[in-house]
Amino acid sequence: MPHTLAVHTHQAVCLITLQRPQALNALTSELLAELAEQLQRCASDDSIGAVVLTGSRKAFAAGADLNEMAGRDLVGMLNDPRQAHWQTITQFAKPLIAAVNGYALGAGCELAMHADILIAGEDAQFGQPEINLGIMPGAGGTQRLLRAVGKSLAMQMVLSGEPISARRALEAGLVSEITPPELTVERALQIAQRIASKAPLALRLAKEALLKAQDLDLASGLRFERHAFTLLAGTADRNEGIRAFQEKRRASFCGK
Ligand code: CAA
Repeated sequence: MPHTLAVHTHQAVCLITLQRPQALNALTSELLAELAEQLQRCASDDSIGAVVLTGSRKAFAAGADLNEMAGRDLVGMLNDPRQAHWQTITQFAKPLIAAVNGYALGAGCELAMHADILIAGEDAQFGQPEINLGIMPGAGGTQRLLRAVGKSLAMQMVLSGEPISARRALEAGLVSEITPPELTVERALQIAQRIASKAPLALRLAKEALLKAQDLDLASGLRFERHAFTLLAGTADRNEGIRAFQEKRRASFCGK
């Protein structure tokens, strides 16, 4: 049983809620380990099609736990067990949706950016305040943020430490929708349910292809897309999807 998370599964969607209210969900090694473990469990459970990750109304997560970080010197950072947990989160292959209310700061913003889709409450704040502490982002906050919002805004956020509002995050493309705070999780679950009803292999390859678009040149990306598209022609779900269309009924996918 995780101590720092609440986990509920309903109709093919797993909802993971960060639960360290005493520290605004600041990310400890224990929390990251439990999150990585839950994602691994979801990855190997065929009945789960998508995951929603959320925090509280006040904070998605206010960054790495600074009390824990204060006890780590250079050698401690080099051998940081959290690296392996971040790696597991990065490699999660099923659709991951973040429902963000309140503060998403530092590693909290970086965690939200691991999600494939970000839904934010109107009061959410996204920021990389590490510069205020004499450090810099270390879990993707320079790389993913720049890809998400472009150079100028990423530079402004990382170099000044000033957060941006949910509305600004929407305009910049960091989040795909904003909602009243009380509806953020509900909306993320709605999107997750819809996604989870699709063919799992198609979802997996579509996610992989979209993520590759950030890393590859266009020709290589198009080659990957073509291979993935062709591979899906050999799946039972592709036959079922097309047959269901012809028979004017809802497709029932089996993941093969
Ligand atoms: N680590 C540990 N504890 C934290 C925390 C953090 N990152 N953020 C908040 N808390 C704790 C506070 O210490 C406080 O605990 P106590 O009640 O025991 O004093 C509790 O959460 C509530 O916080 P505040 O009283 O500060 O709440 P506030 O509403 O006045 O302010 C805030 C909220 C602006 C988010 C403020 O808490 C804050 O600035 N937090 C730190 C944010 C930050 O710098 N994050 C980046 C961390 S570094 C990082 O993440 C590195 C990386 O990239 C890997």
